[in-house]
Amino acid sequence: MAKFIIKGGKKLSGEIEVKGAKNATLPILTATLLASGVYTFSNIPELKDVEVMIDLLRHLGLVIKKLAPHTYRITNQGIKNIEAPYELVKAMRASFLVMGPLLGSAKKARVSMPGGCAIGARPVNFHLNGFENLGVKITVDHGFINAEAKELIGAEINLPFPTVTGTENLVMAAVKAKGRTIINNAAREPEVGDLCNLLNKMGAKISGINTDKLEINGVDKLQACDYEVIPDRIEIGTFIILSALFQGKILIKNARLDLLVDFIKKIEKAGIIVEKTGEYISAKIFKKINPLKVATEPYPGFPTDLQPQLMVLLNLANGDSTIEENIFENRFRQVPELNRLGAKITIFEKTATITGVEKLTGTEVTATDLRAGAALVLAGLIAENTTTINEAEHLERGYEDLVGRLQALGADIKKQT
Ligand code: EPZ
Repeated sequence: MAKFIIKGGKKLSGEIEVKGAKNATLPILTATLLASGVYTFSNIPELKDVEVMIDLLRHLGLVIKKLAPHTYRITNQGIKNIEAPYELVKAMRASFLVMGPLLGSAKKARVSMPGGCAIGARPVNFHLNGFENLGVKITVDHGFINAEAKELIGAEINLPFPTVTGTENLVMAAVKAKGRTIINNAAREPEVGDLCNLLNKMGAKISGINTDKLEINGVDKLQACDYEVIPDRIEIGTFIILSALFQGKILIKNARLDLLVDFIKKIEKAGIIVEKTGEYISAKIFKKINPLKVATEPYPGFPTDLQPQLMVLLNLANGDSTIEENIFENRFRQVPELNRLGAKITIFEKTATITGVEKLTGTEVTATDLRAGAALVLAGLIAENTTTINEAEHLERGYEDLVGRLQALGADIKKQT
């Protein structure tokens, strides 16, 4: 179990570079199952989750070579195996994203049931119902989901909720189906758009990209191609809060503000000024942090993946803020840990109330999931004394070399294994 040890109160300054989007990389890697040939992907973040996905694709028969940091060559000379094993799906539930492209190419898939995780049960019923709309037969045995179809036939799919990986899975199953597929109430996250742009570059016919209604006209064949993944908007949001906490002395490189319109609107309401100078973005607190009332929503609303990080900023507001978590049923896991650092946060049903405090004071805490861990790092950097974050491996799933990048800004942070 890794620990991060942070001596708070240091003055941080310098520049931090945003890496490629984890949640665009994962579906984009699985899309290589859809067409044989050689792909070169760039701006791929060096993350544990990406390593797990690469291991899984190798298990299915793809040849994957790292050409340089952030650049990978994937060669699909045919799918050798259609089963995603328990240990790989357990290590990362987004492995379930192979089901759509396996159906799209081999019309067959056997994937270990993705368990829940710290933030919720994470069911996949919307994925499975959508596959059945496309003519896929779903059965379950020994903890595996089997999916099979003689032919995938285009259909109209109405998603009860704009599920991100559900939309991605269904698009990848539909791109080579017979006829036209419409996905209503599709997820509009930029990572879904990035996948659709890759698929169209491979020869798919997807329209309505970045809207809640996707139309996919099935094609017989797709071709391999090269592609560059978009920057990670959750990293951008996390580092904007970091920059604000250090009065704009931290410049963020490779950031795209168009990916975070609602988030920027909300933090500007809290009294943060976000500035873009050339290719850099920075943020600073205008006078004081105003309390906020925020609710997480599907894109383009406020992203649930930035909810824990916003909470750290609101700990220092002058007054009471509320955050309503509408996406996951258990995503306030950072609250008891922040309270150990001196925050004053209470939870009632799906709303957290954050009372502003003067300061935070370091102590021992535990990261329960990736974004809760990010919140604890932000808190540890501004808290007095030392903060020890247990189970810090959660952070390495979603933030490449976070310790190294923060040390480069002058943070006194080290990893202890
Ligand atoms: C994606 O998860 C992201 N992961 C998550 O990021 C992100 O928090 C989430 O979207 C919401 O934006 C990846 O893209 C790999 P959902 P996903 O399906 O697709 C319910 C991170 O930190 N639901 O949009 O699994 C579900 O229980 C991670 O990078 C069903 O009920 O999220 C949840 O309450 C965390 N049935 C809600 O919908 C289904 O079939 C949103 O889930 C599918 C989802």
